[in-house]
Amino acid sequence: TDNPEKFRPVYHFTPEQHWMNDPNGMVYHEGLYHLFYQHNPNSSKWGPMHWGHAVSKDLVDWEHREIALYPDSLGTIFSGSAIIDKDNVAGFGKNAMIAFYTSNYETQEDGKRKRFQTQSLAYSTDNGRTWAKYANNPVLDNPGIKAFRDPKVIWHEASKTWIMSITEGQKIGFYGSKDLKKWDKLSDFGEGYGAHGGVWECPDLISMKSGTKDVWVLIVSVNPGGPNGGSGTQYFLGDFDGTTFKPHDKETRWLDWGTDNYAGVTWSNVGNKHLFIGWMSNWLYANAVPTEKWRSAMTTVRDLKIVEVQGKNYLTSFPIAGYQKNLKAEANRLRSTHSLDIKGFNNALKLSFKGVDLSEDFRVVFENSIGEALSLHYSKKSGYFALNRSEGGLISFHKDFAKKMLAESPIGDGRCNLDIYLDKTSAEVFVNEGLVTITSVFFNEADFDSVKTSFSINPGNMNLYRYVK
Ligand code: FRU
Repeated sequence: TDNPEKFRPVYHFTPEQHWMNDPNGMVYHEGLYHLFYQHNPNSSKWGPMHWGHAVSKDLVDWEHREIALYPDSLGTIFSGSAIIDKDNVAGFGKNAMIAFYTSNYETQEDGKRKRFQTQSLAYSTDNGRTWAKYANNPVLDNPGIKAFRDPKVIWHEASKTWIMSITEGQKIGFYGSKDLKKWDKLSDFGEGYGAHGGVWECPDLISMKSGTKDVWVLIVSVNPGGPNGGSGTQYFLGDFDGTTFKPHDKETRWLDWGTDNYAGVTWSNVGNKHLFIGWMSNWLYANAVPTEKWRSAMTTVRDLKIVEVQGKNYLTSFPIAGYQKNLKAEANRLRSTHSLDIKGFNNALKLSFKGVDLSEDFRVVFENSIGEALSLHYSKKSGYFALNRSEGGLISFHKDFAKKMLAESPIGDGRCNLDIYLDKTSAEVFVNEGLVTITSVFFNEADFDSVKTSFSINPGNMNLYRYVK
């Protein structure tokens, strides 16, 4: 395309240039939130992985840093996590930042790609500026499993043990360690539970509260096998006793119904908060999306919560309040009772409706003068929300890109709140503060200049914000 920056979101994190996939090693330390990411610095396609790096004081505005981790003799640097070693149990220094990642060793045999994956460690004693690899890597050898990757390490207070969750094919393995270097297998989880369309990747085991009760959440990305094709993110609610994860039920739940929220996990060292970010793309078409200079963005940073709806618990995800600092309320944009004027917003905005009636179908459509449209639809009959990007811009780069996305809603009749975050080439739809979430990219050739609704807009229940910086 003409302008290489044309499709770049403005308030979502993107790499300066070239390829990006999973968020990695997110950790907070001494005033800085760190975001590392799967990065190929030589091309806009997936290739030899490095850890790219960025930092932020507020999770909203990011500053790019040098590449943190480069491939070595054990392989390229696949996904993983980071923690702060407050008690210096590993011996790299008090409060050392320690990253766990997968060393991915690849060979070509008989024209076929062969992979050998082990888990390694790197550390930094200057708040993530410079990194050293541990001399005795790998810290966890391959037990004979082809897909053995994406270590996510957390502190388990009750057993005073570090716990690593890790991909083991279509299961998640749990390992324990006292010194962060020697890891022992505890258990695994996955058989007979959840969606099994593909490999279970990027697990995250999180201790949360449902009211006053402790609930453990296990986030698991699956590729393929997502709810609307390609990759997607499921989660399980249950208990973790320091050894075993026991789910509360057999239900398959989706953290996001949209096509474009994958490999997301939460920040470490942020107290009782649960801050999540995902890769805003899908393995189905990630390498083919029509940007050349840079490829793909992250989702907004989201707060995770557990809420009860009709006797069942769900994990909600909703953008952190911090985004509001760059969102300016816009009055007088009502053009008619069913339409809003968003000319000049550069497609960067937030639109909220309170108390939308679910006793009938409704539609919210973003439109422009060249005939592009992105529409959200609710069907009372099926109880589903649907996002349609088939007319939202370029679609021909992949045959399944134009497929309509469906999101099952547990809300039932009554009313709902809607928050739509639009950013250039992405939309994140939140129903009831993230109980139902639909995240989607699209590639519109022109900015939208109006929003049309099937319901009549009550200005008292509607808020429109323009992104300003
Ligand atoms: C998930 C994933 C991970 C892996 C990484 C490689 O998107 O496949 O399992 O570590 O990407 O880039």
